Amino acid sequence: MPCKTGKIINCGALGITMKIVVGISGASGAVIGIKLLEALRNEQTVLIVSQNAKKIIERETAWKYEQVTNMAKETYENTEMDAEIASGTSRFDTMIIAPCSTTTLAKIACGIGDNLLTRTASVALKERKKLIIVPRETPVSTPTLKRMYELSLYGAVIMPPVPAFYLAPENIDDVVNYIVGKILDHIGIRHNLYEPYRR
Ligand SMILES: Cc1cc2nc3c(=O)[nH]c(=O)nc-3n(C[C@H](O)[C@H](O)[C@H](O)COP(=O)(O)O)c2cc1C
Repeated sequence: MPCKTGKIINCGALGITMKIVVGISGASGAVIGIKLLEALRNEQTVLIVSQNAKKIIERETAWKYEQVTNMAKETYENTEMDAEIASGTSRFDTMIIAPCSTTTLAKIACGIGDNLLTRTASVALKERKKLIIVPRETPVSTPTLKRMYELSLYGAVIMPPVPAFYLAPENIDDVVNYIVGKILDHIGIRHNLYEPYRR
């Protein structure tokens, strides 16, 4: 059964606090990044929101940008290229970009680090840290499919925000909770955002 409450409860690392960079770029589905931050409230989260994402947050959700930044332990502007996380010496564990625009995705695949988000993703790749990308676009163009394939080869996890129809989601909250839960599964954080499938 899917999580019916829409609430994020019982999240928490397996005894260890992780430093997690959360990027929200200018794709539809800003609520995924926001719910993810909420779920990671016990971790050391570092937030980067692109210019377009700031507009999309206010257009698609009831959240103000400042309220979103309040959920993160640290926030940087996407122009702050001198931020600690832009360096290979930075000790973050994981980077998650949710949602990720196809533009940001393509830049990362090509090794372009022209803003803090893309630069930090390049650091994640070169330092062999976990990089989870949640691209929101449909249909997906051939260039984007090619970039997704390349990123997967480079070790990134490509996790499109696809609903688990077999869990019978009843509303968008159920869908978002499932997607955020899948991200948490990949970084080893326990949650009850969705119930695993049972026959
Ligand atoms: C309201 C709105 C919704 C958008 N949705 C998407 C989307 O779902 N996927 C996507 O790849 N780009 C989308 N875009 C386009 C990106 O925002 C645009 O390519 C931008 O340059 C991405 O830059 P960023 O990744 O630095 O935010 C959208 C733009 C707007 C204004």
